[in-house]
Order: sequence, then structure tokens, then C-alpha cells
Amino acid sequence: MKLWQKGHDSAPQVDAFTVGPDREMDEQLAEADLLGSLAHTRMLGAIGLLTAQELASVQAELKTIYHRVAQEGFRIDDGVEDVHSQVELMLTEKLGEVGKKIHSGRSRNDQVLVDLRIFLRRAIMEIVGDTLRLFEMLQGLSERYKDVLMPGYTHMQVAMPSSFGLWFGAFAESLADDMQVMLAAYRVVNRNPLGSAAGYGSSFPLDRQLTTELLGFDTPAYNVVYAQMGRGKTERIVAQALATLAQTLARLASDNVMFLNQNFDFISYPPELTTGSSIMPHKKNPDVWEIMRGRCNLLQGLPGQIAMLTTNLPLGYNRDLQLLKETLFPALQQMREALQMADFMLRHIEVRRNILDERKYDYMFSVETVNNLVLGGMPFREAYRKVGMEIESGEFSPSKEIRHTHIGSIGNLCNRQIAALMEEVVAGFDFEHVREAELNLVK
Ligand code: ARG
Repeated sequence: MKLWQKGHDSAPQVDAFTVGPDREMDEQLAEADLLGSLAHTRMLGAIGLLTAQELASVQAELKTIYHRVAQEGFRIDDGVEDVHSQVELMLTEKLGEVGKKIHSGRSRNDQVLVDLRIFLRRAIMEIVGDTLRLFEMLQGLSERYKDVLMPGYTHMQVAMPSSFGLWFGAFAESLADDMQVMLAAYRVVNRNPLGSAAGYGSSFPLDRQLTTELLGFDTPAYNVVYAQMGRGKTERIVAQALATLAQTLARLASDNVMFLNQNFDFISYPPELTTGSSIMPHKKNPDVWEIMRGRCNLLQGLPGQIAMLTTNLPLGYNRDLQLLKETLFPALQQMREALQMADFMLRHIEVRRNILDERKYDYMFSVETVNNLVLGGMPFREAYRKVGMEIESGEFSPSKEIRHTHIGSIGNLCNRQIAALMEEVVAGFDFEHVREAELNLVK
């Protein structure tokens, strides 16, 4: 049964092709759909399109369904097209005529829009939470290992002394910047498209400010045509934020793979966090980090995929947009898994403390030696040549003591400043306001 059915059925092949895996995606939108309907019906009550009694019965039933979904999940019955139809069907089964009234002044087009915004802001909330946990892990490791030196590379050649404090801390700071991008995406997401109906508004005097406040959105997505145009654009911006975050994780993963390699041998993990080989009994492979790198690199392709899907779409609703769900929803899940897995792995990382004792790293200290000569009064070029000659003749013997004190260097990591940066970004999300609004709608 379709909401729009007027006597003829679509061919089953048409149903199967146009719905595809969309039902599974829509099942994830159930809570959001119910929140949207709770706000919409309160607004219909406020403008006199539902009586107080009708409103009370619809609200009670929507809340009952909401709490059931939160406990048990949600299933769309075979033959029902989408989440919006399923909820309306459940209401009409229970309440009769009143259930059919709630669709006044809206369309599935703005229903799916509002569902997606609610869903996406929740997903962002979860991703920010996971990111914060990983951030704290990295900052903790940076502090713990701030005195443990490791080689720094340029052109993949041994270059200058670095430290595990710098290495871990770099990824933490990267996450803080990733959250800036995520915050920008969140700002775009958290605006209310409800009331744009099929994409061109309605002759009912819909109170869009009211639904905006009820749902905890920052503002309406004002222009009804733009509200519809926001589908695809919003997803692309969220995908961009995911891609940015994924890049940080992909690089962390790549370094882990490299540093676990026997020729580096900088770090290790307990054997149960590595995987074996079916033929080579000695193998302890870094599969977790390789899968992480691969997944995160695929996530970086997401904005491009969404761009391809939406390029040159004419304004107004187009069914192509449905496919955004299949593209983005699994990516959100994978992002969370990657963040959680990185945190889990790093909890068990062991770092080697005496890496720089090996002779092949001696030349890394050449710049230190040059700088010490400069501090003693010798012009830089002269000091550079003197040390260069010593290296050439095999006479160079470095002092491995280093004193880096400036902002952001080995001896002055600025982890506290980086934590403050992160704190400030995260405060910008204002999740509390959204949570409160959602709780008020369902209580
Ligand atoms: N499943 C559809 C989607 O995600 C819902 C909106 C359907 N609207 C329509 N006019 N067919 O886009």
C-alpha cells in the first residue's frame, strides 16, 4: 500500500528498483521522523488545523511509538515504501481519521529533509564524542612519552630529532582542526527545512519559527526552494568534514604500519592486536591499521561521490537524492568504528625508548651541533661547513642532548593550549540545547 496510491499499482520491478536498500536506510530515520511529526502536529494544533483533542491523541501515540523505537528499533513492513509511510500507517491503524490529518501542510520531501537534519546532527554528536575520546588518548600519550626521542624524516630520509610527544600530539592537534570543519558542517545541518513541503511552501499559515524552536534548530532554512536544494549540499558538507577527519586517521594508520615494520621497529602492540599469516609462522601483521588506512582513504572520496550524484540536478525534488542515504549512512558508521578502533589500539601501544642509540641516527644531530657553534658566536655558514667536513671525514661525533624550547617544539609541546583549542571548538556545538529540545518533544 502506498500513501499516494490511487487505483493502480507500480510493477513490482519498479518498486524493487526504486526502493532498493532505501527501507533499511529509512529504518535508521525512524526516531527523527517521529520527532519531526511531534513538532509538526504541535504546530498544526497551534494554527488550528488539529483540535486540542486530536492533538492530544496524536501526540500520545507518536510518543509511544518513539519510545518503543528507542527500545526495540523500527521495522518497515514489506510493501510499505518508506519510514514516513510506515509511521502514518501505524497512526491511522491506531487512531483512524486523525492519523490521516497530520500530513496537512507537509510532503514526504520536507519530511525526509527534516529527518536527515535530525539524524545528521545526532551522528555528528556521536562522532564528536568519539573524536574527543581519541583526542584525550593522544594527548595523554604525548605527555607520557614527551621525553622519548625518535627520528624525524624529510623526503623519507632521516632528518632531525623528533619525539613521541610531538608525534602523538600532532594527531591530537589535527583532530582539533578537524572539529572546526565539523562545527562548520554542524552549523549548516542544524537549520529547519520543515514547512517547505514539496519544495514550494504551502497555503496553510505554517508557523515555521515554532517548529524550528521545538526541534532545537538554530534557524529555519528560510527559502523553501533552498531548503530543498539543501539536500545533497548538506550531505556533501558533512562528507567534507568526514573526509577531513578521515585524513587524520589515515595518516595515523599509515605511520603505525610503517613504525611497526621491522626496519623501523619504533612501536609494538600485544600479539592479540595483530594478525597472523597462513604460511609464515613469524608474522604479526598490522591489519587493523591497514584496514583503517584503506577505509579512511575511501572516506576521503565521499565528497567526490556526492558531488557526482548531485552535479547539475535541476532545482526541486529529484528522486536521485534518495541515494544519498546509501552513500552517507554507512560512511558515518565507518567513521565511528575507525575512531573507536584507533582509541582502542593506542591504549595498548608500546614505544621503544632507545631508538636513537643506533649509529645510523647520529647525523640527525648535525643541526644541533651547528646551532651550538652558532650560539658560541660562529656564523651559521661557517659552522655548517665545519660540521659538514667532520661528517665527510668520519670525525663527527654528536652530543645527543637537545634543547628545544620554542612554542610547539620537543621541549614545549603546548598540549594545554591545544586542549583549550579543542574545548573552545566543542563548546560551539551546543548539543545540550538540541538534547533538551528533543527531550521536551517526547516527554
Ligand atoms: N524515499 C524518498 C527519498 O529519500 C522519500 C521522498 C519521496 N518523495 C517523492 N516525491 N517520491 O527521497
